[in-house]
Amino acid sequence: MSSPRRKIVAGNWKMNLDRSQARSLAAAVAARSSEAAAAELVLCPPALYLDPVLEAVAHSPVSVGGQNMHDKASGAFTGEIAPPMLIDLGCRYVILGHSERRTLFGETDTVVNAKARAALAAGLTPIVCVGETLQEREAGRTGDVVTAQVRGSLAGLSAAEIGRLVIAYEPVWAIGTGKVATPEQAQEVHALIRRVLGTLASPEVAAKVRIQYGGSVKPDNAAELAAQPDIDGALVGGASLKADDFLGIARAFGG
Ligand code: PGA
Repeated sequence: MSSPRRKIVAGNWKMNLDRSQARSLAAAVAARSSEAAAAELVLCPPALYLDPVLEAVAHSPVSVGGQNMHDKASGAFTGEIAPPMLIDLGCRYVILGHSERRTLFGETDTVVNAKARAALAAGLTPIVCVGETLQEREAGRTGDVVTAQVRGSLAGLSAAEIGRLVIAYEPVWAIGTGKVATPEQAQEVHALIRRVLGTLASPEVAAKVRIQYGGSVKPDNAAELAAQPDIDGALVGGASLKADDFLGIARAFGG
């Protein structure tokens, strides 16, 4: 049975590129998006380059997302970005609770939960990231850690709201390390996440939620990940900075 879920491949550019590089990378992905037409493609540039990237993809099916946002709609929060500002520019997505936000900027599940609510209220689709550290995996705690992150990050959301979001499973030990989870390791956690979503919403809603894998996804390992029944796309860091690599991954999911 083929999956009812449209695959989604997102590029998390993190704090990289300059304006002209951002513009040309976005234009290259937009020009070649038909290579992966069955998948939805999303680019998440640094906030300062959202506007040129939105312009570069304007006449293509490529969507754009923020990498982070504040949970308030406006106010005295120097340096922050409000959810309605992302909508105002034309963004459809926002990455929330990335492991770098969690470990380097102290974002807890409670913070991620407040941001997820705010994103949904503003009309954005959150890409909520979860994932265990190497230490947690080696201690056999992956299931408990990921379950707690999903429950905590989505606490209090209605079934309809859960049905609107995307989850990214990113084992921390695989991010930027070149160590990718095996397809079996990833599939096991994706299936677990879907079961947890089933208890939070309903099995029907859980069956519709797209769960991306992230962590050292490259063109040469994307196909075996894409072949897993519960892997519905990828959140790509390093490899999203080159059009050929990003599109190679995108083709594995939607070519
Ligand atoms: P990576 O990053 O692909 O460079 O491992 C993934 C991510 O942080 O989303």
